[in-house]
Amino acid sequence: MLKPHGGKLVNRVLKDEVRREIMEQIDSFSKLVVTEEKVTDIHNIATGVFSPLKGFVCYEDLDSIVMRDSLASGLPWTIPIVLSVSKEDAERIKEGETILLTHENGKPVALMEVEDKFRYDKSKICEAIFGTTDLSHPGVKKIFSTSGIYLGGNIKLIEKIEHRYEKYNLTPAETRFLFKEKGWKTVVGFQTRNPPHRAHEYLQKCALEICDGLFINPVIGKKKVGDFTDELILKAYEVHLRLFFPKDRAVMSILPFEMRYAGPKEAIFHAIVRKNFGCTHFIVGRDHAGVGKYYDSYAAHRIFEDFGYLGIQPLFFDHAFYCRRCGGMATKKTCPHGAEDHLGPSGTKIREIVTKGAEIAPEIMRPEIVEVLRSAEEPFVK
Ligand code: ADX
Repeated sequence: MLKPHGGKLVNRVLKDEVRREIMEQIDSFSKLVVTEEKVTDIHNIATGVFSPLKGFVCYEDLDSIVMRDSLASGLPWTIPIVLSVSKEDAERIKEGETILLTHENGKPVALMEVEDKFRYDKSKICEAIFGTTDLSHPGVKKIFSTSGIYLGGNIKLIEKIEHRYEKYNLTPAETRFLFKEKGWKTVVGFQTRNPPHRAHEYLQKCALEICDGLFINPVIGKKKVGDFTDELILKAYEVHLRLFFPKDRAVMSILPFEMRYAGPKEAIFHAIVRKNFGCTHFIVGRDHAGVGKYYDSYAAHRIFEDFGYLGIQPLFFDHAFYCRRCGGMATKKTCPHGAEDHLGPSGTKIREIVTKGAEIAPEIMRPEIVEVLRSAEEPFVK
């Protein structure tokens, strides 16, 4: 099977006997309370989703990501996984110390060997990752809401915390096992943060014509206001997979992660993460991981040219739509007709299904999915 990024799947989950020993001396560590998002990052590091990272990045890695789109080792990497701390916590915590990271509810999450404590220019990070320092960009806003002081160092997860959607929360070791069990030699990964429309389905099915299996991997976690809720995305995908895909050709598991909306840089990161899950191919459509008008629709395609082979094959798709004259889904690569014959999915139109009870053509979204969207009490992130 395809090697994970960096060659080896990281496992930083403490073994039972070590955990028991640590728990006996748990009160001796100085503590740092981390947010839900950081708890998720810790799980992703510990279970190998972010291989080869073994912890939160130190200065050298962060600087290398910002300047060269790679870790200090030279391995491609585009989204910094950082732990920012308040000025007070930074004063209290010393380099070389092992600290206990705890959940907001007080539960111990992980030990961290603090190798590095440093400041980094937030504007420089934002320019490199998002291509902008505009505070209206949700990713930029997030970075500017932190102190700009970071702790770097390896972590060890004390105990896995059960996810709200645990049955869909497979680790890379588990997905790799699953793909092998299914006999899939090639697996295409699909990133999403939305319920499926017909263009999504078209991409997935085109890719399934050339790959053995499809890995639907929705990002679950804090999203921007107005995005569809996690619950709804999963429900819609359950219906989508049950009704429109052969049972043995597609599986779904979640990626707990906070979207950065970093467009092209996030596309590279998304591909690397899916490589860690064991995918051989990865779908990149139009406006991948984009937000507003910050990125050109195909910037997330072009960026792959700068990286060479990442160890996972990107499958690029143009804007997909339904063409009345072709009588099916198409892109401009396969359809000669004009815009007057095309029906394309638009975020606004799809939202209006729920907000205004608007009708939507089955060629844009399947009625079975529309039904799921309409059944939700709280369809959007508030
Ligand atoms: S994303 O933020 O996760 O990229 P979304 O869930 O809408 O947003 O998209 C999932 C994948 O489908 C991405 O690769 C995106 O580029 C692609 N995609 C969405 N809509 C279309 C479309 N109409 N045509 C081509 N690709 C699309």
